[in-house]
Amino acid sequence: MVIMPRENTIYDEEQVPTFDLPDPLVAEDGQPVTDAGAWTQKRRPEILQLFKTHVFGEMPALLPDTSFVTTEEGHALGGRVRRRQINAQFAPDGPSMEILLYLPADSGGPVPIFLGLNFFGNHTVMLDPEIHLNTGWMRAEQKNGIVDHRATIDSRGCLSSRWCIDEIVARGYGVATVYSGDLDPDYDDGYQNGIHPLFFRQGQNRPAPNEWGTIGAWAWGLSRAMDYLQTDADVDPDRIAAFGLSRLGKTSLWAGACDERFALVISNESGCGGAALSRRRFGETVKDINETFPHWFCDIFRRYNDAEDTLPVDQHMLLALCAPRPLYVASAVDDHWSDPRGEFLAALAADPVYRLLGTSGLPVEQMPAVDQPVMGRIGYHIRSGYHDINAYDWAQYLDFADLHWGDR
Ligand code: GCU
Repeated sequence: MVIMPRENTIYDEEQVPTFDLPDPLVAEDGQPVTDAGAWTQKRRPEILQLFKTHVFGEMPALLPDTSFVTTEEGHALGGRVRRRQINAQFAPDGPSMEILLYLPADSGGPVPIFLGLNFFGNHTVMLDPEIHLNTGWMRAEQKNGIVDHRATIDSRGCLSSRWCIDEIVARGYGVATVYSGDLDPDYDDGYQNGIHPLFFRQGQNRPAPNEWGTIGAWAWGLSRAMDYLQTDADVDPDRIAAFGLSRLGKTSLWAGACDERFALVISNESGCGGAALSRRRFGETVKDINETFPHWFCDIFRRYNDAEDTLPVDQHMLLALCAPRPLYVASAVDDHWSDPRGEFLAALAADPVYRLLGTSGLPVEQMPAVDQPVMGRIGYHIRSGYHDINAYDWAQYLDFADLHWGDR
């Protein structure tokens, strides 16, 4: 991962400033939210709107006329999995994305799916020569077989340790993924490539200050993959989870907030702008993220650089937007940049909303020890090691999904 700490980055709990979090259960008119109806009809829409206006930006209301075409099907892993590749074309000559779907070969009926974006192309998630090699722009990372911002055959399977597809299908789940760059390549080009121009109004050439950035576009793409998955007879349409690592974990949270068809949401080390509380300013801050990645959020979010206390929301409210659906927040102990404690505290501060909605919420009040997962309707773990998603993380997500979807 790219770490860019400033000289004054806070990595010491004692330097964390004191702050007050906005209360997810007090409406903008000052009224307390005391029942599920007031949450669903009044407070939840308010919070969602605050995140649209101040953080991620508005998404377009109208959908393009998308065609989904299956371009390839086959088997992999010695016949244990079925593979399907689906092209989603958003406009006849415009942008498209490719969905890669793996299903257990012997499922005998629709299966729940983990859906997440990937960083460097679908062909990186497993060493399977039939996966189409993505030809789009990639962030420069020589180690992932990328040369001059393009994937080479050396990219194939290079991130398979992050996907654990063999284990996931063995447990009876499917996996779907899309390359994030199909939706919007991850660099600041004023939103000229990717899907944003598809929605520009007459004379518009970049999103307005309250309109979506790249994370919004990525989350939108997850919803379009969801549109497809809802129509696939091999998929259980009521059991589709959104997951993601880091910037793509910020994305899975935003997708889960905006699109309640996601029945379970996983944030793997999503950090600043994801699960971590911004007001703590521990590790990456709002200013850091807006300066290094000016294209990720809406322009209005920059007003909160060095002014986190004036934000009308904090990230516990993003987590609360998932309620009452199962939500898993995962941290890693050496991933200081993502502020593991800030991620835990956000999950804890989302708990009252989960409780109001009659669920078990987060079963602990203190941060659990390393490698000691806790699972209620909110799950949390802090594992040993660095910023990544690995077999340990997946083992917990599979147990968590079994816990909530075990009746199948
Ligand atoms: C950078 C960035 C983080 C992000 C991470 C990643 O470190 O500052 O906000 O989560 O990249 O996506 O790996």
